[in-house]
Amino acid sequence: MLIDGKDSDQIAADDRGLLYGDGLFETLAVHSGEPQLWTQHMARLARGCVRLGIEPPSVDLLQAEARALCAGSARAVLKIIVTRGSGGRGYRPPAPALPRRILSLHPWPDHPAHWPQQGVNVRLCDTPLGANPRLAGLKHLNRLEQVLARAEWDDPDIAEGLMLDAAGGLVEGTMSNLFLVQGGRLRTPALEQCGVAGVMRGHVLALAEQGGIACEVTALGLADLRSADELFVCNSVIGIWPVRRVQGMEFMPGSVTRRLQQAIGDAVDA
Ligand SMILES: Cc1ncc(COP(=O)(O)O)c(C=O)c1O
Repeated sequence: MLIDGKDSDQIAADDRGLLYGDGLFETLAVHSGEPQLWTQHMARLARGCVRLGIEPPSVDLLQAEARALCAGSARAVLKIIVTRGSGGRGYRPPAPALPRRILSLHPWPDHPAHWPQQGVNVRLCDTPLGANPRLAGLKHLNRLEQVLARAEWDDPDIAEGLMLDAAGGLVEGTMSNLFLVQGGRLRTPALEQCGVAGVMRGHVLALAEQGGIACEVTALGLADLRSADELFVCNSVIGIWPVRRVQGMEFMPGSVTRRLQQAIGDAVDA
């Protein structure tokens, strides 16, 4: 683990990331020593820093540290955290603040290898997502909603939980974004009130547009699930998992899902 470039796993107890979740993070797939979708992750981190008023770390510095940490890793997960740094008691951001960067490398998760091919079972979570346009889209460090939602089940056959906003609108998974296909059209929930604007979500939308698949970012509800032909969840580490079952509804991984899996380079065994 690198903290401000130094090999360490000790963090100051007055770090505002710990005290208030005052910071941001990125989780990147690493293949053959190379962090994937680097530019997109750095762009989201930069947008988050602007929104929170945190001085962004130098991307060159982050890249040098990431490369050093990932060197020699065939497959791993790189986590980059940027906090506002240390501060005194109280919410008021310190001035000047000295942001802190924490880079850590983790083993590749051991999800069943057949999930990308055969699809996964998901559930609907009871924990709602609160609306806050100032935080919507960011990958900030306040993740208690996801922690509570993920604690709702421990059945290993359920791969993910879908989360709704307080009005019952579909938003995303606990650790992923949600797409559905209706009549050949790719649709994903708008994230203006809540949710994380996933890097993989953006990548999927860009690839779909390039491939001539009509896309729509819009409000979606449970009725849309019922009328969907295909459903999938995605993030930067899992890629795309087709959804097979949710709330008694059954789906088959369809041609749009397969095309997008191929486009992002998922290993889909026949
Ligand atoms: C709540 C939430 N939504 C969406 C995502 C997907 O984000 P990304 O595609 O950047 O991995 C994640 C990733 O961990 C997440 O935690």
